[in-house]
Amino acid sequence: MFLYTTNSPEETVDFGKKLGKLIEPGMVILLIGDLGAGKTCLAGGILKALGVEDYVTSPTYTLVNEYWGSLPVAHFDLYRLDEPDQLFDIGFEEYLDGERVVLIEWPERANGYLPPTHLKVELTGEGERRNISLVPVGAKYRDLCERMKDFVGAGD
Ligand SMILES: Nc1ncnc2c1ncn2[C@@H]1O[C@H](COP(=O)(O)OP(=O)(O)OP(=O)(O)O)[C@@H](O)[C@H]1O
Ligand SMILES: [Mg+2]
Repeated sequence: MFLYTTNSPEETVDFGKKLGKLIEPGMVILLIGDLGAGKTCLAGGILKALGVEDYVTSPTYTLVNEYWGSLPVAHFDLYRLDEPDQLFDIGFEEYLDGERVVLIEWPERANGYLPPTHLKVELTGEGERRNISLVPVGAKYRDLCERMKDFVGAGD
């Protein structure tokens, strides 16, 4: 696990950019936190690092937006998912093809459909301060977490 604190949206974008630089094809990143926690903000940093400049800041009315940067990326926002089985209808599992980077906001809604290994990124906080925790599930995500520690240091 890795803990980091940011004090502005820009710092969260920056953290996302650093994480994005270390992401490998096929990685699945779960973005967890309340409304306004900063999930999309952090996803934006990841997308920039993957060479995607023109991204939808709030993919609220579609469940997924797809991008082709240095790697293919699918950005899900499952807030409006009524039931997990809806994921079957949109071919969710086909996005988990081992090539595409998959970012998922509100992964709690996808009960039963999430891949067994992934990186959990949890955001909490108020005002301009956010506590970000990275919790790896699976060996390659533990490596990612270790590399992220070396890359950004302990935070403040
Ligand atoms: N340190 C910070 N990091 C990220 N966002 C911050 C920070 N401080 C303040 N904010 C504000 O918090 C909000 C985060 O919005 P964002 O859309 O990223 O949240 P979200 O978690 O994606 O919400 P939703 O569940 O509605 O999709 C923005 O208005 C941003 O300006
Ligand atoms: Mg969002």
